[in-house]
Amino acid sequence: MSDQSRSIIGAGVPRIDGPDKLSGRANYAADNLPPGLTYGYGVFSTIASGRVTDIELDDARDMPGVVDIYHHGHFPTLYHTPSSLAQGNKVEETRLPFEDDRVYYAGQFVALVVADTFENARAAARRVKVSYAEEPTLATLEQGIEANGTQPGSGNHSRGDAPAAFDSAATTVDVTYRTPVETHNPMEMHASTAWWQRGELTIFDASQGVVVAKGALSKIFAMSPERITVHAPYIGSGFGGKLWTWPHAIATAAVSRELGRPVQLVVPRREMFTTVGHRPETRQRLRLATDENGKLVSVRHESINTTSFTDQYVETCGSVTKSLYRCPDLTVSHATTQVNRGTPTSMRAPGAAPGLFALESAIDEMALAAGADPVQFRLDNYASRDESKDLDFSSNHIVEATNRAAEKFGWADRTPGVGSMRDGREIVGYGMAACNWEALKMACDARVSIRADGTAFASCATQDIGTGTYTIVAQTVSDVTGIPLDRITVKLGDSSYPDGPVSGGSWATATTLPAIAGAARNALDEMKRYATGTGGVFAGAASDDLEVSDGGLRNADGKHSDFAAILDAGRYGSADGEAHTKAADSEYSYRSFGAHFVEVRWDPGISRLRVARVVSAIDVGRVINETTARNQVEGAVVMGIGMGLFEATEYDERNARPVNNDYAEYLVPVHADQPEIDVILLDYPDTKFNEYGARGIGEIGITGLAAAVANAVYHATGKRIRELPITLDKLM
Ligand code: MOS
Repeated sequence: MSDQSRSIIGAGVPRIDGPDKLSGRANYAADNLPPGLTYGYGVFSTIASGRVTDIELDDARDMPGVVDIYHHGHFPTLYHTPSSLAQGNKVEETRLPFEDDRVYYAGQFVALVVADTFENARAAARRVKVSYAEEPTLATLEQGIEANGTQPGSGNHSRGDAPAAFDSAATTVDVTYRTPVETHNPMEMHASTAWWQRGELTIFDASQGVVVAKGALSKIFAMSPERITVHAPYIGSGFGGKLWTWPHAIATAAVSRELGRPVQLVVPRREMFTTVGHRPETRQRLRLATDENGKLVSVRHESINTTSFTDQYVETCGSVTKSLYRCPDLTVSHATTQVNRGTPTSMRAPGAAPGLFALESAIDEMALAAGADPVQFRLDNYASRDESKDLDFSSNHIVEATNRAAEKFGWADRTPGVGSMRDGREIVGYGMAACNWEALKMACDARVSIRADGTAFASCATQDIGTGTYTIVAQTVSDVTGIPLDRITVKLGDSSYPDGPVSGGSWATATTLPAIAGAARNALDEMKRYATGTGGVFAGAASDDLEVSDGGLRNADGKHSDFAAILDAGRYGSADGEAHTKAADSEYSYRSFGAHFVEVRWDPGISRLRVARVVSAIDVGRVINETTARNQVEGAVVMGIGMGLFEATEYDERNARPVNNDYAEYLVPVHADQPEIDVILLDYPDTKFNEYGARGIGEIGITGLAAAVANAVYHATGKRIRELPITLDKLM
């Protein structure tokens, strides 16, 4: 990072893509309408388990505009992908679309109609008659465990002897928590527009990872990745649901090749609940114990989550438990059980979000059992190093985060008795919880050009999923080159650009910025070579004597020339730089920290519960953009309120079909549910992690929030709700 323009890093500059989005110029996957476009519409299984025995197509074929109808008996051959993130070809549902006549979940694609318009495709799809041989279903976690037991998961950890320490401890807690299936509900539905020219595939896909999508499609179509281009210049958010390629995108590309025509398919909102992943149901048993001084001496966190019959997805609920609190004797284990649902996937803070609901609720129960204040109990037990990895944290300010949030919230005013704080008809409850998320940094390539017209151009195949990546990349180019933001163009979301990371895991910022900065510095080096070369503006000078200043170079004597003049002197069109940066090393444990404080208000007269106030202090390293960073935490807090009070995908226990599969019945917080949200960003650069000192901020804000709500609800009502969401029936 340069000193001269340090102020651009951290500044709350507005999103540079904002005008394009607000004016409708931003194009999303389904906005692409290539000539000759046809439209796909799915026929989705109405049963959750069994076989397709017959597909009657005559009525559908007679409908206007129908081009063709695909199903397991009429579909091109595809190839399996190893589904490896390390190899860059991961998919979450590994069964290929229409692979056979089997049905594993309700809402699985069983046919795909292609027609000349969206309306004709949809109308014809409704005329396809599918007959099934239905088999008994497993609809819930408990049904799955009862029928098939569990399969061991990954991410397990054990140190010391937790059972023995538990048995000899002064105070113990043994509690079980449950979290439901949650469904990603981004505004933009999943959509793909695919076409083939001269054997090459172009696909606009609502994707959080165009490079991995390209890799997966290259395996599935058995062709070299260079012949596939995946575009996602804008996506209407994803929350993890769009990290990996789902069956609809594969099927759309496949039928487009078959037909020799472009095909577009939008996943209907109803099927957003079935065939594109979800956060799985969990059951988590927590056993904690303290000694007579209130120190944690034993922790066991056992989690089971639902997965599909085709894939094992492990929700690593104990991922944070391993290292948040100091405890010599600790066990974390994950297992799965198969049910008739589609394959789950990452949803904002996978593992940690449901995991910290359980852990941070249990810590509250433990503190109360030990007679301690919940804040002081945490301060007394936070880990000062990562015991699970036997490493120091690169940077950890959780104590300051907890104290600052407590002070701003007014925790000292809390009277500990249940229901002891009243305001008119309302009972006020105060609760808090820690939040935590791993900081990751992947390998990344980037390109920056400084052009003769005085502008700069940066490209990387990462995406902006609405979080501000375009803007922070521009800030980085401006930081290194001194070129103002309005003369910087950023291109993202195209798999033909230099390889960039998936926009997930909160790792895009830490991964992308060092590569962009490196490319910008390399472009400046080229600029200096041009300037100092024969005929150059600073001919004969040493590159080291030139410094970047005011959109140009300056020598020791104070002579300044702007970049355009330097390029013009040699008739160079641009000075270009590329860079490749590596994944983070494992010298330290890199994590982000924080604490949420929540005020709930419970009106027992009318049974109304609301979150009235949230104060969150977040330690994510350096803040690159004050505005977008704050937005990330605010959005995550809102999503955490949804997790705490509203969100649950319900399944009919008789047939495993999702019941509340639309915006009307799948409840998320609306404006009336928003509390006052006060976000404190600690802003301590973590330069052991990367030169920008930023650890990423997309996910941490949702972790712990539901527990803070549940802990506040307990304080107000005396009811310890261990099963999300905290609906009113549970309080009466
Ligand atoms: Mo996030 S769940 O890694 O998109």
